[in-house]
Amino acid sequence: METPLKISTSLLFLSVWVVAAASCKHDIPQINIPQADSTVSAFCNSDTVYFKNTVQPLIQTACAYSGCHDAASHEDDVILDTYTNIINTGKVKAGNPDDSKLYKVITETDSDDIMPPPPNQPLSAAQINIIYNWIMQGAKNNACLQCDTLNVTYSQTIKPIIESLCKTCHNPYMLSGNLILTTYDDVAAIAANGKLVGTITHAPGYVTMPDFADSNKYIGQCQIKQIVKWVNEGYPDN
Ligand code: HEC
Repeated sequence: METPLKISTSLLFLSVWVVAAASCKHDIPQINIPQADSTVSAFCNSDTVYFKNTVQPLIQTACAYSGCHDAASHEDDVILDTYTNIINTGKVKAGNPDDSKLYKVITETDSDDIMPPPPNQPLSAAQINIIYNWIMQGAKNNACLQCDTLNVTYSQTIKPIIESLCKTCHNPYMLSGNLILTTYDDVAAIAANGKLVGTITHAPGYVTMPDFADSNKYIGQCQIKQIVKWVNEGYPDN
């Protein structure tokens, strides 16, 4: 279900350049190579806290403003404007919120140490939970594309889902369940007979789809909503 699109072409060029430079000079050039760990998932998993979607906007409004932890003010040398700065100056230990400064200061009970400092409102339990879960999940530099249930079309929404989650098995070579899901007509046929919605919502009397052994590839709530909406609208070929 997760489709990481790593943008690493520029890094490739940079590394080639570093190697070339190192071979003519004898000292190793001091180049800060950016981290290439920002991954974008094609769909949002409701159990995952995404840095770009949720954590960064929260930290931006609660901490990284003028006079506090933006790049210009950097109170206590803490700058919370980018992923790298948040990890380094917020002393975030992936998987260990209680050992992460960022988490400790927002849960601090001493009013002299709590962040954001009074008279600002402390973070709500829900906001603290977001930071906690993000750190527990590895404090990744991740993002996902939001669930859009307004603009659902066959070509932009349904086809990519079928191609990434169903075509592996339902193609002319695999012929799983004697079913091919290649064209619009193929998909429209199982939309019409109820099997598309029945199998993905695990309705009684239907087999459960997609049928992967790897549970990470199961269909997300967002994709289910999008498919159900499209079917209810008469599964248009748009
Ligand atoms: C890993 C392989 C695999 C994937 C991925 C997969 N399927 Fe299936 N599918 C099967 C198998 C195997 C069957 C036959 C199961 C059975 O009859 O017990 C089947 C059966 C079906 C059936 C029932 C066919 C019938 O005539 O009763 C439907 C509908 C279906 N799949 C839809 C989907 C959809 C929609 C997706 C994607 C969201 C999907 N499948 C993904 C393997 C897969």
